[in-house]
Amino acid sequence: MARVNENYDKLSSNYLFSEIAKRTKSFSEKNPGTEILRLGIGNTTEPLTKSIIEKMHEGVDKLADPERYTGYGDEQGDLRLRKAIAEFYLRKGISIQYDEVFVSDGAKPDSANIQSIFAQNSTIAVQDPAYPVYVDSNVITGRIGAAKGTTYSGIIYMPCTAENDFFPELPGRKADIIYLCSPNNPTGAVATRAQLKRFVDYAIENKSVIIFDAAYHSFISDPELPRSIYEIDGAKKCSIEINSFSKSSGFTGVRLGWSVVPKELTIEGTREGKINAIWNRRQTTMFNGASNIAQEGGIAAISEEGIKENQKIIDLYMQNARAIKECFVQKGLTVYGGENAPYLWIKTPDGMSSWEFFEKVLSEAYVVITPGSGFGPSGEGYIRVSAFGHPDTIMKALESIKQNLGI
Ligand SMILES: Cc1ncc(COP(=O)(O)O)c(C=O)c1O
Repeated sequence: MARVNENYDKLSSNYLFSEIAKRTKSFSEKNPGTEILRLGIGNTTEPLTKSIIEKMHEGVDKLADPERYTGYGDEQGDLRLRKAIAEFYLRKGISIQYDEVFVSDGAKPDSANIQSIFAQNSTIAVQDPAYPVYVDSNVITGRIGAAKGTTYSGIIYMPCTAENDFFPELPGRKADIIYLCSPNNPTGAVATRAQLKRFVDYAIENKSVIIFDAAYHSFISDPELPRSIYEIDGAKKCSIEINSFSKSSGFTGVRLGWSVVPKELTIEGTREGKINAIWNRRQTTMFNGASNIAQEGGIAAISEEGIKENQKIIDLYMQNARAIKECFVQKGLTVYGGENAPYLWIKTPDGMSSWEFFEKVLSEAYVVITPGSGFGPSGEGYIRVSAFGHPDTIMKALESIKQNLGI
Protein backbone atom coordinates (compact mmCIF):
# COMPACT_ATOMS: atom_id res chain seq x y z
CA MET A 1 0.00 0.00 0.00
CA ALA A 2 1.56 3.26 -1.11
CA ARG A 3 1.37 6.16 1.31
CA VAL A 4 2.49 9.73 0.95
CA ASN A 5 5.24 11.30 2.99
CA GLU A 6 3.08 12.86 5.68
CA ASN A 7 5.80 15.33 6.57
CA TYR A 8 4.56 17.42 3.64
CA ASP A 9 1.41 18.08 5.70
CA LYS A 10 3.58 19.65 8.41
CA LEU A 11 4.69 22.45 6.10
CA SER A 12 3.08 25.81 6.69
CA SER A 13 0.09 25.90 4.35
CA ASN A 14 0.44 29.48 3.18
CA TYR A 15 3.78 29.35 1.40
CA LEU A 16 4.95 32.93 1.31
CA PHE A 17 5.15 33.58 -2.40
CA SER A 18 1.93 31.78 -3.29
CA GLU A 19 0.10 33.76 -0.61
CA ILE A 20 1.52 37.00 -2.06
CA ALA A 21 0.41 35.94 -5.54
CA LYS A 22 -3.08 35.08 -4.24
CA ARG A 23 -3.54 38.42 -2.49
CA THR A 24 -2.14 40.37 -5.43
CA LYS A 25 -4.49 38.57 -7.83
CA SER A 26 -7.45 39.26 -5.61
CA PHE A 27 -6.53 42.97 -5.48
CA SER A 28 -6.18 43.09 -9.29
CA GLU A 29 -9.58 41.46 -9.79
CA LYS A 30 -11.21 44.03 -7.50
CA ASN A 31 -9.34 46.92 -9.17
CA PRO A 32 -9.31 46.16 -12.90
CA GLY A 33 -6.99 48.35 -14.95
CA THR A 34 -4.73 49.25 -12.00
CA GLU A 35 -1.09 48.63 -12.83
CA ILE A 36 0.57 46.57 -10.10
CA LEU A 37 4.22 47.42 -9.48
CA ARG A 38 6.61 44.94 -7.91
CA LEU A 39 9.38 45.44 -5.39
CA GLY A 40 9.02 42.01 -3.89
CA ILE A 41 10.74 39.43 -5.99
CA GLY A 42 14.39 38.40 -5.89
CA ASN A 43 14.50 37.75 -9.62
CA THR A 44 17.09 39.14 -12.01
CA THR A 45 15.99 41.27 -14.96
CA GLU A 46 19.13 42.30 -16.86
CA PRO A 47 20.39 40.34 -19.89
CA LEU A 48 23.43 38.08 -19.72
CA THR A 49 26.77 39.67 -20.55
CA LYS A 50 28.45 39.41 -23.94
CA SER A 51 31.15 36.90 -22.98
CA ILE A 52 28.62 34.57 -21.34
CA ILE A 53 26.35 34.68 -24.38
CA GLU A 54 29.27 34.00 -26.73
CA LYS A 55 30.40 31.00 -24.70
CA MET A 56 26.86 29.62 -24.48
CA HIS A 57 26.47 29.99 -28.26
CA GLU A 58 29.72 28.09 -28.61
CA GLY A 59 28.19 25.39 -26.40
CA VAL A 60 25.16 25.16 -28.70
CA ASP A 61 27.40 25.00 -31.78
CA LYS A 62 29.33 22.11 -30.26
CA LEU A 63 26.09 20.20 -29.84
CA ALA A 64 25.34 20.69 -33.55
CA ASP A 65 28.70 19.27 -34.56
CA PRO A 66 29.11 15.46 -34.71
CA GLU A 67 32.84 15.82 -33.92
CA ARG A 68 32.31 17.93 -30.80
CA TYR A 69 28.92 16.74 -29.54
CA THR A 70 28.80 15.65 -25.90
CA GLY A 71 26.04 13.81 -24.04
CA TYR A 72 26.09 13.15 -20.31
CA GLY A 73 29.00 14.82 -18.59
CA ASP A 74 30.51 14.23 -15.17
CA GLU A 75 27.82 14.44 -12.47
CA GLN A 76 30.18 16.57 -10.40
CA GLY A 77 30.50 19.10 -13.22
CA ASP A 78 32.67 19.86 -16.24
CA LEU A 79 36.30 19.63 -15.15
CA ARG A 80 37.04 23.01 -16.78
CA LEU A 81 34.33 24.68 -14.70
CA ARG A 82 35.36 22.94 -11.49
CA LYS A 83 38.92 24.14 -12.06
CA ALA A 84 37.68 27.67 -12.92
CA ILE A 85 35.73 27.74 -9.62
CA ALA A 86 38.83 26.57 -7.72
CA GLU A 87 40.77 29.42 -9.41
CA PHE A 88 38.02 31.88 -8.44
CA TYR A 89 38.70 30.97 -4.80
CA LEU A 90 42.46 31.07 -5.33
CA ARG A 91 42.18 34.67 -6.56
CA LYS A 92 40.81 35.45 -3.09
CA GLY A 93 43.72 33.58 -1.48
CA ILE A 94 41.62 30.50 -0.66
CA SER A 95 42.95 27.11 -1.67
CA ILE A 96 40.16 24.77 -2.82
CA GLN A 97 40.87 21.66 -4.91
CA TYR A 98 38.72 21.09 -7.98
CA ASP A 99 37.46 17.78 -6.54
CA GLU A 100 36.07 19.65 -3.55
CA VAL A 101 33.81 21.60 -5.97
CA PHE A 102 30.49 20.07 -7.06
CA VAL A 103 28.66 21.90 -9.84
CA SER A 104 24.88 21.83 -9.58
CA ASP A 105 21.72 23.26 -11.09
CA GLY A 106 21.55 25.93 -8.39
CA ALA A 107 21.90 26.84 -4.75
CA LYS A 108 18.26 26.11 -3.98
CA PRO A 109 18.48 22.39 -4.78
CA ASP A 110 21.86 22.11 -3.03
CA SER A 111 20.62 23.89 0.08
CA ALA A 112 17.58 21.60 0.13
CA ASN A 113 19.51 18.38 -0.60
CA ILE A 114 22.55 18.84 1.59
CA GLN A 115 20.71 17.83 4.78
CA SER A 116 20.21 14.32 3.30
CA ILE A 117 23.84 13.36 4.01
CA PHE A 118 23.52 13.96 7.76
CA ALA A 119 22.02 11.77 10.48
CA GLN A 120 18.26 11.83 10.87
CA ASN A 121 18.48 12.87 14.53
CA SER A 122 20.66 15.91 13.81
CA THR A 123 19.54 19.13 15.48
CA ILE A 124 19.04 22.05 13.12
CA ALA A 125 19.75 25.74 13.78
CA VAL A 126 18.70 28.50 11.43
CA GLN A 127 18.99 32.24 11.38
CA ASP A 128 15.59 33.73 12.03
CA PRO A 129 14.44 35.10 9.59
CA ALA A 130 15.89 32.83 6.88
CA TYR A 131 15.49 31.65 3.28
CA PRO A 132 12.62 29.13 3.78
CA VAL A 133 14.31 26.20 2.00
CA TYR A 134 16.62 25.39 4.94
CA VAL A 135 13.71 24.77 7.30
CA ASP A 136 11.30 23.24 4.78
CA SER A 137 13.79 20.64 3.53
CA ASN A 138 14.34 19.45 7.11
CA VAL A 139 10.58 19.36 7.74
CA ILE A 140 10.07 17.17 4.66
CA THR A 141 12.79 14.80 5.86
CA GLY A 142 11.06 14.52 9.24
CA ARG A 143 13.64 16.18 11.46
CA ILE A 144 11.30 18.97 12.49
CA GLY A 145 7.74 19.02 13.84
CA ALA A 146 4.67 20.72 12.43
CA ALA A 147 4.24 24.48 11.87
CA LYS A 148 2.28 26.56 14.32
CA GLY A 149 1.81 29.86 12.56
CA THR A 150 5.28 30.87 11.44
CA THR A 151 7.13 28.65 13.95
CA TYR A 152 8.12 24.99 13.61
CA SER A 153 8.70 22.85 16.67
CA GLY A 154 12.06 21.18 17.11
CA ILE A 155 14.14 23.78 15.33
CA ILE A 156 16.69 26.03 16.97
CA TYR A 157 15.82 29.54 15.86
CA MET A 158 18.66 32.03 16.14
CA PRO A 159 16.95 35.42 16.19
CA CYS A 160 18.44 38.14 13.99
CA THR A 161 17.16 41.47 15.25
CA ALA A 162 18.07 45.13 15.17
CA GLU A 163 19.66 44.63 18.62
CA ASN A 164 22.23 42.14 17.30
CA ASP A 165 22.67 43.83 13.87
CA PHE A 166 20.75 40.95 12.31
CA PHE A 167 23.50 38.41 12.99
CA PRO A 168 22.67 35.80 15.63
CA GLU A 169 24.20 34.79 18.92
CA LEU A 170 25.52 31.22 19.08
CA PRO A 171 22.74 28.62 19.34
CA GLY A 172 21.28 28.30 22.83
CA ARG A 173 21.54 24.49 22.78
CA LYS A 174 23.76 22.11 20.86
CA ALA A 175 23.17 22.41 17.14
CA ASP A 176 24.50 19.81 14.72
CA ILE A 177 23.68 21.53 11.42
CA ILE A 178 23.83 25.32 11.34
CA TYR A 179 22.59 27.28 8.33
CA LEU A 180 24.12 30.71 7.79
CA CYS A 181 23.48 32.99 4.82
CA SER A 182 25.56 36.09 4.11
CA PRO A 183 24.72 38.49 2.51
CA ASN A 184 21.45 37.50 4.05
CA ASN A 185 18.13 36.91 2.41
CA PRO A 186 15.90 38.52 3.67
CA THR A 187 17.62 41.02 6.03
CA GLY A 188 20.42 42.20 3.72
CA ALA A 189 22.82 41.91 6.68
CA VAL A 190 26.39 40.80 5.97
CA ALA A 191 28.37 38.84 8.56
CA THR A 192 31.73 40.23 9.63
CA ARG A 193 34.84 38.09 9.95
CA ALA A 194 34.59 38.19 13.75
CA GLN A 195 30.95 37.07 13.66
CA LEU A 196 31.72 34.12 11.37
CA LYS A 197 34.79 33.20 13.41
CA ARG A 198 32.62 32.69 16.50
CA PHE A 199 30.46 30.22 14.58
CA VAL A 200 33.46 28.43 13.07
CA ASP A 201 35.01 28.01 16.54
CA TYR A 202 31.65 26.77 17.89
CA ALA A 203 31.28 24.29 15.02
CA ILE A 204 34.79 22.88 15.46
CA GLU A 205 34.31 22.54 19.21
CA ASN A 206 30.91 20.84 18.87
CA LYS A 207 31.70 18.82 15.73
CA SER A 208 28.84 20.62 14.03
CA VAL A 209 28.65 21.55 10.38
CA ILE A 210 27.96 25.03 9.00
CA ILE A 211 26.02 25.21 5.74
CA PHE A 212 27.05 28.59 4.42
CA ASP A 213 24.90 30.04 1.64
CA ALA A 214 26.93 32.61 -0.28
CA ALA A 215 24.47 33.07 -3.17
CA TYR A 216 24.73 36.88 -2.87
CA HIS A 217 28.53 37.11 -2.38
CA SER A 218 29.04 39.37 -5.39
CA PHE A 219 26.98 42.17 -3.85
CA ILE A 220 29.63 42.77 -1.18
CA SER A 221 31.70 45.81 -2.07
CA ASP A 222 33.20 46.47 1.38
CA PRO A 223 36.64 44.78 1.30
CA GLU A 224 36.49 44.18 5.06
CA LEU A 225 33.50 41.86 4.73
CA PRO A 226 34.10 38.18 3.87
CA ARG A 227 32.61 36.86 0.61
CA SER A 228 33.32 33.25 1.47
CA ILE A 229 33.31 31.42 4.79
CA TYR A 230 36.68 29.98 3.81
CA GLU A 231 38.18 33.42 4.45
CA ILE A 232 37.83 32.44 8.11
CA ASP A 233 40.59 30.35 9.71
CA GLY A 234 39.43 26.81 10.40
CA ALA A 235 36.29 27.04 8.22
CA LYS A 236 37.36 24.21 5.93
CA LYS A 237 37.25 21.87 8.90
CA CYS A 238 33.57 22.56 9.58
CA SER A 239 31.82 24.24 6.63
CA ILE A 240 30.15 23.50 3.34
CA GLU A 241 29.70 26.53 1.10
CA ILE A 242 26.77 26.68 -1.28
CA ASN A 243 26.96 29.14 -4.13
CA SER A 244 25.15 30.25 -7.24
CA PHE A 245 25.52 31.89 -10.64
CA SER A 246 21.93 33.16 -10.36
CA LYS A 247 22.37 36.54 -8.75
CA SER A 248 26.04 37.18 -9.60
CA SER A 249 25.66 36.44 -13.33
CA GLY A 250 21.93 36.55 -14.09
CA PHE A 251 21.58 32.74 -14.31
CA THR A 252 18.25 32.57 -12.43
CA GLY A 253 16.65 30.95 -15.48
CA VAL A 254 19.80 29.32 -16.91
CA ARG A 255 20.29 27.34 -13.64
CA LEU A 256 23.83 26.81 -12.35
CA GLY A 257 25.44 26.73 -8.93
CA TRP A 258 28.04 24.87 -6.93
CA SER A 259 28.87 23.55 -3.51
CA VAL A 260 32.27 23.21 -1.91
CA VAL A 261 32.67 20.18 0.34
CA PRO A 262 36.23 20.35 1.68
CA LYS A 263 38.09 17.11 2.35
CA GLU A 264 39.27 18.59 5.65
CA LEU A 265 35.67 18.74 6.86
CA THR A 266 35.00 16.23 9.62
CA ILE A 267 32.11 15.75 12.03
CA GLU A 268 31.37 13.21 14.75
CA GLY A 269 32.58 9.79 13.67
CA THR A 270 34.09 10.77 10.30
CA ARG A 271 37.63 11.01 9.00
CA GLU A 272 38.90 13.55 6.47
CA GLY A 273 37.44 13.02 3.00
CA LYS A 274 34.38 11.07 4.17
CA ILE A 275 31.82 13.88 3.82
CA ASN A 276 33.25 14.86 0.45
CA ALA A 277 32.89 11.20 -0.60
CA ILE A 278 29.30 10.98 0.66
CA TRP A 279 28.23 14.13 -1.19
CA ASN A 280 29.96 12.73 -4.27
CA ARG A 281 27.94 9.55 -3.82
CA ARG A 282 24.72 11.50 -3.32
CA GLN A 283 25.27 13.57 -6.45
CA THR A 284 26.37 10.70 -8.66
CA THR A 285 23.35 8.68 -7.50
CA MET A 286 20.67 11.35 -7.66
CA PHE A 287 21.88 14.06 -10.05
CA ASN A 288 22.96 13.75 -13.66
CA GLY A 289 25.04 16.90 -13.99
CA ALA A 290 24.20 20.48 -14.88
CA SER A 291 23.36 21.46 -18.46
CA ASN A 292 26.46 21.51 -20.64
CA ILE A 293 25.38 24.81 -22.26
CA ALA A 294 24.89 26.42 -18.83
CA GLN A 295 28.32 25.21 -17.76
CA GLU A 296 29.93 26.78 -20.83
CA GLY A 297 28.34 30.07 -19.75
CA GLY A 298 29.53 29.47 -16.19
CA ILE A 299 33.15 29.16 -17.34
CA ALA A 300 32.88 32.64 -18.92
CA ALA A 301 30.98 34.09 -15.95
CA ILE A 302 33.50 33.04 -13.32
CA SER A 303 36.59 34.16 -15.23
CA GLU A 304 38.23 37.41 -14.09
CA GLU A 305 36.89 39.11 -17.24
CA GLY A 306 33.39 37.70 -16.74
CA ILE A 307 33.23 38.95 -13.17
CA LYS A 308 34.30 42.44 -14.28
CA GLU A 309 31.55 42.47 -16.91
CA ASN A 310 28.93 41.36 -14.42
CA GLN A 311 29.99 44.01 -11.93
CA LYS A 312 28.21 46.59 -14.10
CA ILE A 313 24.93 44.73 -13.60
CA ILE A 314 25.52 44.35 -9.85
CA ASP A 315 26.20 48.12 -9.73
CA LEU A 316 22.87 48.77 -11.46
CA TYR A 317 20.95 46.69 -8.89
CA MET A 318 22.83 48.42 -6.09
CA GLN A 319 21.84 51.80 -7.54
CA ASN A 320 18.25 50.58 -7.26
CA ALA A 321 18.97 49.65 -3.63
CA ARG A 322 20.15 53.19 -2.86
CA ALA A 323 17.04 54.72 -4.45
CA ILE A 324 14.77 52.35 -2.49
CA LYS A 325 16.52 53.20 0.76
CA GLU A 326 16.22 56.93 0.10
CA CYS A 327 12.51 56.62 -0.67
CA PHE A 328 11.59 54.67 2.48
CA VAL A 329 13.82 56.79 4.71
CA GLN A 330 12.08 59.90 3.30
CA LYS A 331 8.82 58.28 4.32
CA GLY A 332 10.16 58.16 7.86
CA LEU A 333 10.78 54.40 8.04
CA THR A 334 13.80 52.60 9.47
CA VAL A 335 15.67 50.79 6.73
CA TYR A 336 18.36 48.11 7.14
CA GLY A 337 20.48 46.25 4.58
CA GLY A 338 20.81 47.27 0.94
CA GLU A 339 24.46 48.31 1.28
CA ASN A 340 26.33 45.11 0.48
CA ALA A 341 23.21 43.14 -0.41
CA PRO A 342 20.31 43.43 -2.87
CA TYR A 343 17.67 43.28 -0.12
CA LEU A 344 16.36 46.00 2.16
CA TRP A 345 14.75 45.11 5.45
CA ILE A 346 12.29 47.74 6.54
CA LYS A 347 10.54 48.15 9.90
CA THR A 348 6.78 48.57 9.48
CA PRO A 349 5.32 51.82 10.83
CA ASP A 350 3.16 52.15 13.96
CA GLY A 351 3.60 48.53 15.06
CA MET A 352 1.76 47.18 12.00
CA SER A 353 2.19 43.49 11.25
CA SER A 354 4.07 42.52 8.10
CA TRP A 355 0.87 41.46 6.31
CA GLU A 356 -1.02 44.60 7.41
CA PHE A 357 1.69 46.76 5.90
CA PHE A 358 1.75 44.55 2.77
CA GLU A 359 -1.99 45.24 2.32
CA LYS A 360 -1.54 48.96 2.92
CA VAL A 361 1.31 49.34 0.38
CA LEU A 362 -0.65 47.28 -2.17
CA SER A 363 -3.96 49.09 -1.73
CA GLU A 364 -2.56 52.64 -1.53
CA ALA A 365 0.51 52.54 -3.80
CA TYR A 366 -0.27 49.42 -5.89
CA VAL A 367 3.18 48.07 -5.01
CA VAL A 368 3.91 44.47 -4.00
CA ILE A 369 6.51 44.00 -1.27
CA THR A 370 7.36 40.85 0.72
CA PRO A 371 6.09 40.45 4.31
CA GLY A 372 9.00 39.66 6.63
CA SER A 373 6.95 37.25 8.75
CA GLY A 374 7.07 34.74 5.88
CA PHE A 375 10.77 34.17 6.62
CA GLY A 376 10.36 33.20 10.28
CA PRO A 377 8.99 34.50 13.58
CA SER A 378 11.60 37.28 13.97
CA GLY A 379 10.56 38.63 10.57
CA GLU A 380 7.25 39.86 12.00
CA GLY A 381 6.99 43.63 11.87
CA TYR A 382 9.33 43.91 8.86
CA ILE A 383 9.04 43.86 5.10
CA ARG A 384 11.63 42.84 2.53
CA VAL A 385 12.14 44.98 -0.54
CA SER A 386 14.20 43.67 -3.44
CA ALA A 387 16.59 45.76 -5.53
CA PHE A 388 16.31 43.38 -8.50
CA GLY A 389 14.41 44.97 -11.36
CA HIS A 390 14.78 47.38 -14.27
CA PRO A 391 15.61 50.82 -12.86
CA ASP A 392 12.61 52.37 -14.65
CA THR A 393 10.21 49.84 -13.07
CA ILE A 394 11.76 50.39 -9.66
CA MET A 395 11.55 54.20 -10.03
CA LYS A 396 7.90 53.95 -11.03
CA ALA A 397 7.13 51.91 -7.91
CA LEU A 398 9.07 54.32 -5.70
CA GLU A 399 7.29 57.30 -7.23
CA SER A 400 3.96 55.70 -6.46
CA ILE A 401 5.05 55.06 -2.85
CA LYS A 402 6.20 58.68 -2.49
CA GLN A 403 2.93 60.02 -3.90
CA ASN A 404 0.34 57.57 -2.59
CA LEU A 405 1.47 55.79 0.55
CA GLY A 406 -0.12 57.51 3.51
CA ILE A 407 2.52 57.37 6.24
C1 LIG B 1 19.66 32.65 0.08
C2 LIG B 1 19.36 32.04 -1.24
N1 LIG B 1 19.97 30.91 -1.59
C3 LIG B 1 19.73 30.33 -2.76
C4 LIG B 1 18.84 30.88 -3.67
C5 LIG B 1 18.53 30.19 -4.95
O1 LIG B 1 19.63 30.13 -5.77
P1 LIG B 1 19.57 29.36 -7.16
O2 LIG B 1 18.88 30.22 -8.14
O3 LIG B 1 21.03 29.15 -7.48
O4 LIG B 1 18.88 28.06 -6.95
C6 LIG B 1 18.18 32.05 -3.35
C7 LIG B 1 17.21 32.62 -4.30
O5 LIG B 1 16.49 33.53 -4.09
C8 LIG B 1 18.43 32.63 -2.10
O6 LIG B 1 17.82 33.76 -1.74
